[in-house]
Amino acid sequence: MEFIEKLKAKALNAKQRIVLPEGLEERTLKAADAVLEEGFADIILIGNPQEIQSEAARLFLKNLHKATIIDPQNHEKMDQYRDLLFDLRKSKGLTLDQAAQLVKDPLYLAVLMIKNGDADGEVAGAENATGDVLRPAFQIVKTIPGISVVSGAFIMVLKDKEFGEDGTLIFADCAVHPDPDANQLADIAVASAMTARSIAGIEPRIAMLSFSTKGSASHEMVDKVVAATEKARLLMPDLKIDGELQADAALVPAIGSKKAPGSEIAGKANVLVFPDLQSGNIAYKLVQRLAHAEAIGPVLQGMAAPINDLSRGCSVSDIVNLIAITANQAAGTLE
Ligand code: ACO
Repeated sequence: MEFIEKLKAKALNAKQRIVLPEGLEERTLKAADAVLEEGFADIILIGNPQEIQSEAARLFLKNLHKATIIDPQNHEKMDQYRDLLFDLRKSKGLTLDQAAQLVKDPLYLAVLMIKNGDADGEVAGAENATGDVLRPAFQIVKTIPGISVVSGAFIMVLKDKEFGEDGTLIFADCAVHPDPDANQLADIAVASAMTARSIAGIEPRIAMLSFSTKGSASHEMVDKVVAATEKARLLMPDLKIDGELQADAALVPAIGSKKAPGSEIAGKANVLVFPDLQSGNIAYKLVQRLAHAEAIGPVLQGMAAPINDLSRGCSVSDIVNLIAITANQAAGTLE
């Protein structure tokens, strides 16, 4: 796929260290092997070194000797990471003993490595649920200053080139924050604009979606979307954004000009911001399945360092692709 090949080429020039905490998971090991063969990122695997080596032999993986392997039960920075974790979470009631236990959990270890400057990004989730991957990241790495919530975007590549940016659209939030308020929804719009520019390479035209277009219905759910649109304009005055818009008004020029005359977004949107996680998650899966669109992501946005979560049904190539995205986020190489 052309999009990912471009990302790999960019990552190659700025090799980043990507930590994979699920270091004994078969698809993860195969993906690590493929990335090391292509050479576009350095790989850190967390897991028992002997077990990783015997898995590598069983799976005939030839490149894993190039990975750095960290044994979560026994490595030289254990005490340092324990103290770092304790410092960061003692105000939340974490004790030193609890920190000493948590630091052996690969999902905590991975984010502590990032926080300590020993890794540049993380990809996980092939065998752990989204919440278990995200919680340590939220607690330790936290959000970019000025953004209150982490959210998850999908880059949707449609077969039909009529919509969005030559068939490419950003959908958010489809993965993380169940019920954003108006301020959080505004932050999700701003973070989605950054993702559109930095990952998809497109200039964002954002539609704040609803079941109403420009006052066609009145409800507190619509009021939230209107307030979020206004807040996003204040946060980023040069943002091309409009709302509230229904999906057809956002995407189809003839409908957009009828339902929202004069809007610079209606009929031309390439970023769709959904009012909550239910609508965003359902929408991306419907478009992926019914329109046979490629759904790249979720790309986590708003986090202070790149940490990305896989679906547990992921393939080896999904993991390789997400490593390429994460390496680019880490390097900041995408314009
Ligand atoms: N952004 C930034 N920080 C957050 C966010 C967020 N979106 N949500 C919670 N936090 C922080 C909190 O502030 C808190 O920090 P603190 O401990 O320093 O005070 C910490 O994370 C824990 O907060 P909780 O409210 O206890 O969060 P919880 O752990 O219950 O929930 C979670 C977070 C797991 C991400 C939850 O929002 C969730 O389950 N989301 C849905 C994920 C999901 O299932 N997505 C669909 C599948 S993915 C797919 O289909 C591709």
